[in-house]
Amino acid sequence: MTERTSIHGQWSSRLVFILAATGSAVGLGNIWKFPYITGEHGGGAFVLVYLLCIAVVGIPIMMAEVMLGRRGRQSPINTMTSLAKEEGAGSAWSLVGWSAVLAGFIILSYYSVIAGWALAYVFRVAGGIFNGADAAGVQTVFTDLTGDPERLIAWHTLFMLMSMTVVARGVRAGLEKAVIYLMPALFVLLFVMLGYAMSTGAFIEGLKFLFEPDFGKLFYACETVAGVENCELSGGPVLVAMGHAFFTLSLGMGAIMVYGSYMPKGISIARSAVLIALLDTLVALVAGMAIFPIVFANGLEPGSGPGLIFQTLPIAFGAMPGGQIFGTLFFVLLVFAAWTSAISLIEPAVAWLVENRGLSRVRAAGVIGMTTWVLGLGSIFSFNIWSGDEYKLFGMTFFDLLDYLAANIMLPLGGLLIALFAGWLMKRESSMDEFAMQARRYDLWRVLIRYISPLAVVVVFLNAIGIF
Ligand code: PFF
Repeated sequence: MTERTSIHGQWSSRLVFILAATGSAVGLGNIWKFPYITGEHGGGAFVLVYLLCIAVVGIPIMMAEVMLGRRGRQSPINTMTSLAKEEGAGSAWSLVGWSAVLAGFIILSYYSVIAGWALAYVFRVAGGIFNGADAAGVQTVFTDLTGDPERLIAWHTLFMLMSMTVVARGVRAGLEKAVIYLMPALFVLLFVMLGYAMSTGAFIEGLKFLFEPDFGKLFYACETVAGVENCELSGGPVLVAMGHAFFTLSLGMGAIMVYGSYMPKGISIARSAVLIALLDTLVALVAGMAIFPIVFANGLEPGSGPGLIFQTLPIAFGAMPGGQIFGTLFFVLLVFAAWTSAISLIEPAVAWLVENRGLSRVRAAGVIGMTTWVLGLGSIFSFNIWSGDEYKLFGMTFFDLLDYLAANIMLPLGGLLIALFAGWLMKRESSMDEFAMQARRYDLWRVLIRYISPLAVVVVFLNAIGIF
């Protein structure tokens, strides 16, 4: 096959590719979701299952996405179309690319709203609004923000502008510049937070909560009804671990595929994918080790989900010495993590507009940014003027619905199709040629991508749509 190049450019080194893909993977999913679900579902036991999912489902699919991207060297839609033609598969495979672009739109529209909260909190914590505040005071700040559509729109607009500016500048001057500054900053901030957590005196308690394996919780779902705890055997937590592996590694929607299309030839895809998955996991674990000691040192409730970061942590920051500075750093960290993920969510669509409609990157980013911004309004209103039951569908707000549709249905489905295409439709010689790795390792990948990953995805998917 003749060597293809991408019209959008290439990363300048392997390190930049690793930083960009890790930037996409590390996001809101790592910093609030992972620590929280780990604590809920059996600590160390859950971490073990999660690591297994990353290894047998996440890494093989990530390798497949990067491999397809680098072979196609175009936006996911055009990559899938041309690879399907080359491999003699039907043109319907381009739908994988379309679904990827659509999922990116949907996820970004609400991701930007939540990232907007983080932006707002940077200024609130820095301004000292939480100093000495009690739970009720912190709650008021949160409801004042989420109950006011105008303020939410302002923060959502700012976050979208930040993301569009990066994407408009292109692969080298935009995405690459952003990740080489933001990712090291994110790692430094994370370890500063860890140091701070170690000084709280509740570090060991935090570690215990996060890592002490409780296999009981892993296989049982418990519910407390009228003060009595009822537990029943359940595969739920195992499936939560698997579902989260997709979201956290940004799989199933073309983000990693498009980043792969800018990867120089001659770099090991397998080694890069393993490193990205390890870094993503490291960030998730360190985030947990930084957050829970602060929660315990202040007697806060560890299992409060999305509220943990916005409604409980500020109480701690308001009460602790240095909390104003460390609190501000924490939300800056959250914004950086969301920012480097957001740019990967729009890059597939922007690349397609440039390739197929001949738009400049600035225009393409403008068009995509505006469309996503409008869709984001629906999520903003879900927290205030559309929060009533009359605006709900299947009991879910617009925001909940988009999250459910994209994260629980579109990503696993996209991942499944990618695994089927790479494992079954693509000729052995083609994928072998692109990976250029040892035969034994290649065979291992092939077994995982043909059998294990698809099976695992089907199980997660059926569970997500409530079939079992
Ligand atoms: N991986 C991101 C997180 O953990 O927050 C979310 C995400 C980004 C999902 C990009 C999908 C994606 F394409």
